[in-house]
Amino acid sequence: MINGKSIKETEAKYFVQTYKRADLIVQKAKGQFIWDEKGKKYLDFFSGISVCNLGHCHPSVVKNIKKQIDSFAHISNIFYAPSQIELGKQLIKKGFGKRVFLANSGAEANECAIKTARKWGRENPSQNGKSRYEIITLNNSFHGRTLATLAATGQDKYHAPFEPMPEKFLFANLNDIESVKSLVSDRTAAVMIEVIQGEGGIQIAKKEFLRDLRALCDEKNILLIFDEIQCGMGRTGKFYAFQNYGVMPDIVTLAKSLANGLPLGAAIVDKKCENTFSFGDHGSTFGGNPVSCAAALAVLNTMNAPFLNNVVKNAKYFYAKLEALKNKYSFITEIRGIGLMIGIQLNKPGKDIVASCLKKGLIINCTHETVLRIMPPLIIGKKDIDAAVKILDEVFKEQK
Ligand SMILES: Cc1ncc(COP(=O)(O)O)c(C=O)c1O
Repeated sequence: MINGKSIKETEAKYFVQTYKRADLIVQKAKGQFIWDEKGKKYLDFFSGISVCNLGHCHPSVVKNIKKQIDSFAHISNIFYAPSQIELGKQLIKKGFGKRVFLANSGAEANECAIKTARKWGRENPSQNGKSRYEIITLNNSFHGRTLATLAATGQDKYHAPFEPMPEKFLFANLNDIESVKSLVSDRTAAVMIEVIQGEGGIQIAKKEFLRDLRALCDEKNILLIFDEIQCGMGRTGKFYAFQNYGVMPDIVTLAKSLANGLPLGAAIVDKKCENTFSFGDHGSTFGGNPVSCAAALAVLNTMNAPFLNNVVKNAKYFYAKLEALKNKYSFITEIRGIGLMIGIQLNKPGKDIVASCLKKGLIINCTHETVLRIMPPLIIGKKDIDAAVKILDEVFKEQK
């Protein structure tokens, strides 16, 4: 197997250069830890961008994967795969929706939601008979890298190289209901938001905003879509982030941690649009892969009430420690988050801090230049939090 210097050279030579990779060649990972090729151990407080929420190689996930792959890996969605069908049922039992479409990724789950809204908008025209196709999303959002989900993403920097963008996405501001209202027209089919903007720097929707959004969508008969690809799956201490708010969407999308590291996405639709798609409207060769679904069944089974309560407990402990760091270092201006989806707002770039943490054996991330993004696996305990805070303190101390 190639390793060391040659792995970096090989990547640089043979790969389309879309990823600026950190200096870490991963050899092995287990639970909240990663080991590099030299045997150095790292505490992973990023979970592969909130993907391995149960930690790496969780025993029940591995067991289910092995069992399924020994039976079959793929059969096509023209047949029934028991693990896939069971997953659909278990997802609905988590407290939202009537039906599910399974995809491979977050972007694909959002594509499904966008297509559902477009078709629903045709079938449910405005009062003056106009079919509806516009989707209002938010500035600073992130919804994926396919052309439609990129167009839905409210950040110009992602659009610029690929103009012209697919049309009919409009951008309002987070926590500003008037900005949403000003964009609503007789062409509006849906509003689509992240309950917590992840890539956008851990920006949290306020309770009143979500409540007002739901009321607006009800009044105007518009679909409300929550993209919970990053903030869902137990990350906030509830299975869905919206369960912290008591506001229900019409469609929710999941991916990332759904299968704890295997590719899987889901668009879950409630009663308003449960029958919008009919045969042939949408599909995917690999979507709902039986092995990914078997992994996801283990994830759903593990994320029970005591597990989620523990996330809340650990998060409380973590925030207290981070607030203490904020009081100690003036370049930290805010600690924000829900559950174990945490942003440390700095008044300066955070790139070097992330690199120094990595050198000291702690994996975190920086987004939007000045926000340290921390999303540990949900299985961590106080000992892990103490270890992470110790490294953060050391690195912060070295800052000028
Ligand atoms: C909120 C949100 N939506 C969608 C996506 C896209 O998911 P994927 O990369 O699996 O296509 C991401 C990825 O980071 C995300 O954070």
